[in-house]
Amino acid sequence: MKRQIPLFKVHMPKSVLKPLGKILLSGYISEGEKSHEFEKKFQEYIGNPNVALVNSGTSALSLAYRLAGFGPGDEVISTPMTCLATNEPIMLTGAKIIWADIDKTTGNIDPPSVEKRITPRTKAIVVVHWAGNPVDLKSISKIAKKHNLKVIEDAAHAFGTKYDGKYIGNHSDYVCFSFQAIKHLTTVDGGAVAVKTPEEYRRAILLRWYGNARSSTSDPIKWSGDVMEPGYKMHMNDVNGTIGIEQLKYMPKIVAKYQKNASYLLEHLRGIKEIALPKTTPGGKSSFWLFTIKLPDENYRAEFSKALRERGIGNGIVHTRNDNYSLFKTWRRDDLLGVDDFCSRMLNIPCGWWLTRKDLDYIVAGVKAAVREATLRT
Ligand SMILES: Cc1ncc(COP(=O)(O)O)c(C=O)c1O
Repeated sequence: MKRQIPLFKVHMPKSVLKPLGKILLSGYISEGEKSHEFEKKFQEYIGNPNVALVNSGTSALSLAYRLAGFGPGDEVISTPMTCLATNEPIMLTGAKIIWADIDKTTGNIDPPSVEKRITPRTKAIVVVHWAGNPVDLKSISKIAKKHNLKVIEDAAHAFGTKYDGKYIGNHSDYVCFSFQAIKHLTTVDGGAVAVKTPEEYRRAILLRWYGNARSSTSDPIKWSGDVMEPGYKMHMNDVNGTIGIEQLKYMPKIVAKYQKNASYLLEHLRGIKEIALPKTTPGGKSSFWLFTIKLPDENYRAEFSKALRERGIGNGIVHTRNDNYSLFKTWRRDDLLGVDDFCSRMLNIPCGWWLTRKDLDYIVAGVKAAVREATLRT
């Protein structure tokens, strides 16, 4: 039977079953001891004591935009080359999205393009670490400081990524993580927002549960603690928290495996003229959630993708540009040349923790065969 290599695979260690069974039958499964323990451990892992857990990456982004004070009349500079989760919550605040271009080699937002779009109404810059490769945060924070703007990092791809010697989660005003099913660290669904100060952390804790502190309800006859502003219901529960605690133990090895596989692919796919290999931003160490290659053009990509699929090698674009959706169409602009190039030529091939050396060799051989076939067919 033909080998089947998926583009994504859920990492769920068997060791999670025992603590999970225990919590499910414990009589208490909502936010509590386990989610708080996971929050503490996650903070320690990242090296930032001000990280609030929530129930998804999308919630983390929505909460960050609320904390940053987005609202009608504001302009927010963002990248269209991402998941809808980055941009729809901006729209829901009433702020206007201004699309910046991306670096066509990395897929990350292009700092000079950001600077060009700043107006007196600009409130913030939203960046996405495509594939886990960090954005040029030095340039972005320099622009933000100069114009007094907030920076929000969508780090859904970038758990375990380092920049300037520190884990992502320590550099900007708000950093949003996703623990969705196929991420390095999954709690089935979940997320986190890292902030800069204890005050903002406390506000995040309130906003994630109706503007009230859940711990203030432990007294059976009174709810202490005032509610000063309306919040959401986006806290993480103890079931997801239990999975998170267990997952975190495996993360050093899991992230290292993605990185090792990426090094192997980089070495063995070097020199193929039809393929542009991923590049890491100076000062960064990518977590390689995706291994994004670029092909000569869109038709070539279609043939190449088909040839890989015929060999059982999973592949895909994962996200497409957001500015083509009708929802955003009125804000479309025609000077996004980096987005045009990257979006029509990039493709992701497997790189994750599940690959054996044999799988990697099979992928290398498959890629070379797919290049031959795509070259003949286009
Ligand atoms: C770049 C990016 N941002 C945000 C999200 C949303 O995360 P979640 O699915 O946890 O809400 C995703 C999800 O895949 C993503 O890829």
